[in-house]
Amino acid sequence: MSAQVIEAISTLREQLALVRSERNTVGLVPTMGALHAGHRKLIEQARRECDWVVVSIFVNPLQFGPGEDYQSYPRDLATDLEFCEQLGVDTVFAPPPNVMYPEQQHTFVNVEGLSEYLCGPHRPGHFRGVATVVLKLFNIVQPDRAYFGEKDAQQLKIIERMVSDLNLPVAVVSVPTVREPDGLAVSSRNRYMTSDQRKAATVLYRALTAARNQIDEGETDPEAAKQAALDVLEGEPQATVEYLEVVDTEEMHPVRKIKGAVRVAGAVRIGSTRLIDNMLCGGN
Ligand code: PAJ
Repeated sequence: MSAQVIEAISTLREQLALVRSERNTVGLVPTMGALHAGHRKLIEQARRECDWVVVSIFVNPLQFGPGEDYQSYPRDLATDLEFCEQLGVDTVFAPPPNVMYPEQQHTFVNVEGLSEYLCGPHRPGHFRGVATVVLKLFNIVQPDRAYFGEKDAQQLKIIERMVSDLNLPVAVVSVPTVREPDGLAVSSRNRYMTSDQRKAATVLYRALTAARNQIDEGETDPEAAKQAALDVLEGEPQATVEYLEVVDTEEMHPVRKIKGAVRVAGAVRIGSTRLIDNMLCGGN
């Protein structure tokens, strides 16, 4: 059976009411499209665990700041649909912007604390836009389970916190990061890069790995682990570091001493392409 594309909220609600009335569980994979191997992993897991799989494709204007890539973000619905069909997705929800935001939005979800570091200060309003659209999608789809990637670890934590703070009846499922053979985390934005930049882009993975190796070997000073990563990043002239931090796994705040599991997270620019990645370290 081929995947059905639905643009209207009322149509989707009618379809899903029927699905639920037959006691089927519904899984939601929220995306912004330009689907790739990372999204595939989320969809495959949803396919295994849920009776009915909904993939949403919506480039959410609310989470892009001025001067960011909202206009140029890759959009290719025909290819995405084929991708979804091959993975046995039941419904693709692809609303136009005026369906998600018929009027100016006045209500926003702010998950405090978790957005203070890492991407938060560099993308003001970004996580507010993410949490708001994800809550809207949860309310529209009412999924039993929703799937998010560890690639965006801060986003994942923010969604988990929103779900627990607001008692939302959905199980958040996290999926490990899918990487290219050379380590680069798969991302829709990787396609912005020239082949030369693409080669340089592996530096972020190599830098995080250097920090992780130190931490796994027992380093307890976050500054030392950070420096190991920064040394690698300095070796790549095409990379500009936005941030590099060792944070705790729950609050996503920088740690003063490494004790147990921590996350090393970084953002770099290669040309005008912004790349983020993170790794769980320590705790062995
Ligand atoms: P998008 O960047 O399209 O990502 C959709 C989901 O795929 C997110 O949960 C993201 O963490 C996951 N993902 C992306 N690359 C991945 C990779 N290499 N390995 C594993 N998972 C990966 O994230 C968003 O869209 C938006 O912010 C959204 C949550 C849809 C709200 O608009």
